[in-house]
Amino acid sequence: MNHSLKFDDGINRQLCVAPMMDWTNRHCRYFHRLLAPSALLFTEMVTADAICHADPHRFLAHNDAEHPLALQLGGSEPEKLHRAIKHASEYGFSEFNLNVGCPSDRVQSGRFGACLMAEPEIVQDCVSAMREATDKPVTVKCRIGIDDMDVDSGLDNFTDKIAASGVSIFYIHARKAWLKGLSPKENRNIPPLDYERVAKLAKTRPELTIILNGGLIDRDEIIRKQNEFEGVMLGRAAYKTPFILAELDAYATKNILAEKKAIAFAMADYADMVIEQGGNLHQITRHMLGLFTGERAAKYWRQQVGEAARLQPYNTDILRETAEFCCSQIHREVA
Ligand SMILES: Cc1cc2nc3c(=O)[nH]c(=O)nc-3n(C[C@H](O)[C@H](O)[C@H](O)COP(=O)(O)O)c2cc1C
Repeated sequence: MNHSLKFDDGINRQLCVAPMMDWTNRHCRYFHRLLAPSALLFTEMVTADAICHADPHRFLAHNDAEHPLALQLGGSEPEKLHRAIKHASEYGFSEFNLNVGCPSDRVQSGRFGACLMAEPEIVQDCVSAMREATDKPVTVKCRIGIDDMDVDSGLDNFTDKIAASGVSIFYIHARKAWLKGLSPKENRNIPPLDYERVAKLAKTRPELTIILNGGLIDRDEIIRKQNEFEGVMLGRAAYKTPFILAELDAYATKNILAEKKAIAFAMADYADMVIEQGGNLHQITRHMLGLFTGERAAKYWRQQVGEAARLQPYNTDILRETAEFCCSQIHREVA
């Protein structure tokens, strides 16, 4: 792929971890960062309202180790989005992303998320106001369309309009959102995936940076898509089988593959810090249940770091001891 046409903002988007409400919070992101030092991470969606009217620090605080980190915003009022970015500007985010892909009822009633694909003029106003608030990249995450929108002309029209307002980076979930009759979960599975449509957009709009999202779970296929597109964004696979992040990162950077034991020990040290600040172990381990997926000790790991951490919320040695045991099982398998 010819990257020379594009403005280089210095952010590597070859591997991105998708924004996921209730999942990609700061503890999860700390874990993902250890697994994939080169990935671009995203916050959960935070509404502009929450940042403007509530305690912004609650929504924006994070650990510096999470960088590079994109803040995903939800909203459709330009002035509020502008203010939200102003509030967020001292937190060191690498980019600000507008959610135009989420189909939940709650989001639709606030008139933002995927329903905005039908109203590109509003999105134009939003991204223009966002761009005025920052010199960091402003990007958009969207679907290939909604409801009965024509996926050819509809997506072209949408991206052309948004691009005319100065956005050149799009994360595209390669399926439509059906706004009536499907739950958000169904909307992530039922509308068929159409990678071809996203590939066509990337080909016909070489000046745009198009990152592919949706349904990517197989490591070899992901590597193929990373070569075909400028990057991929992984959601559920990153969460449920997190070690894939380490494998993809090591493959791309040619660095040595991270060791699960070292990751678990580093997370135990992180948990000690979080506990000192008033948190508990389970807040952290709930994001780590998939670390040993596919291995003999996977079930034991899930039980220990899931259940035992709940029963002994301040005993971070559970993580260390369980990791030690699970890794010894891997070595027995290899021997
Ligand atoms: C639990 C969960 C929460 C999500 N929350 C958000 C969100 O806050 N903002 C957003 O743009 N997409 C959200 N998504 C959608 C993902 O970012 C992603 O687009 C979708 O899961 C498809 O990618 P995948 O097949 O790799 O999971 C969420 C997905 C899940 C599973």
